[in-house]
Amino acid sequence: MTLGKSIRKAVFPVAGLGTRFLPATKAMPKEMLPVVDQPAIQYVVEEAVKAGLTDLLMITGRNKRSLEDHFDREPALERALELKGDTGRLDAVQHASGLGPIQYVRQGEPKGLGHAVLCARQHVGDEPFAVLLGDDLIDERDELLTTMMDVQARTGGSVIALIEVDPSQIGAYGCADITAIDGEDFVRVNSLVEKPSVAEAPSNLAVIGRYVLHPAVFDVLEGTEPGRGGEIQLTDGLQTLAAAEEGPGVYGVVFKGRRYDTGDKLSYLKAVITIASERPEFGEDLKSWMKGFLN
Ligand code: G1P
Repeated sequence: MTLGKSIRKAVFPVAGLGTRFLPATKAMPKEMLPVVDQPAIQYVVEEAVKAGLTDLLMITGRNKRSLEDHFDREPALERALELKGDTGRLDAVQHASGLGPIQYVRQGEPKGLGHAVLCARQHVGDEPFAVLLGDDLIDERDELLTTMMDVQARTGGSVIALIEVDPSQIGAYGCADITAIDGEDFVRVNSLVEKPSVAEAPSNLAVIGRYVLHPAVFDVLEGTEPGRGGEIQLTDGLQTLAAAEEGPGVYGVVFKGRRYDTGDKLSYLKAVITIASERPEFGEDLKSWMKGFLN
């Protein structure tokens, strides 16, 4: 692998069962839940494309066909909109399929995020790559992925994204023990633990769903035993890389921008309302309605 080689590949693990949203996700992938007027996953794919990633791979599973349909052309619908002269909706429909060719690999069994990433091995090969989780939306006005890609090129290691959370919340995330690096805007990650109890947590720095990984992670994941929840955890694989005396280390970018979590019902509702309230077409109307509603 060449240090500083520009990153082209993005992996989207979307095989999760979406149990937190049942029954809505019984027959529909959670990634397709609408956030205002587009599925959550489209925001994430747009973020990757905006950061310059052109080789897009989704790790899917059973019941995920609508994801492929969403990012594919839909000639009959396009023709109908064209005939009506509805160019606004036609553009929106074509935008989703124009984000680029997306390739798909199936995970087969829900054996965890680490296992999902391992399913990308053959496609990714021996180069650094990004992993974007669908539950986290990053506001397009804030930079995160490009900063992480820059840190990867400078360090040659793997890079994770961290946010500060209230210590009581840390058990929902991977958690990092870090050391600041003089004069740098990124940190060294000493160790990682997946979903620790409040007492075990080494910090209040939580891993969020953006990673820029060195391909060495694949060998490590091959040998990673199931961890929390009986699943092969990406966090455990990265812990092995962080703890190794030699080889590419792990670094962190502490993100201070706007992130919208769509991973559980309450956070999802907050994300929808926040994003909707900034839409020029109806944001102001929504906010004034909400004021009345709250009174
Ligand atoms: C996964 C990771 C966890 C990370 C989180 C971020 O957990 O395992 O380390 O903090 O994503 O969204 P999940 O939320 O899929 O259980």
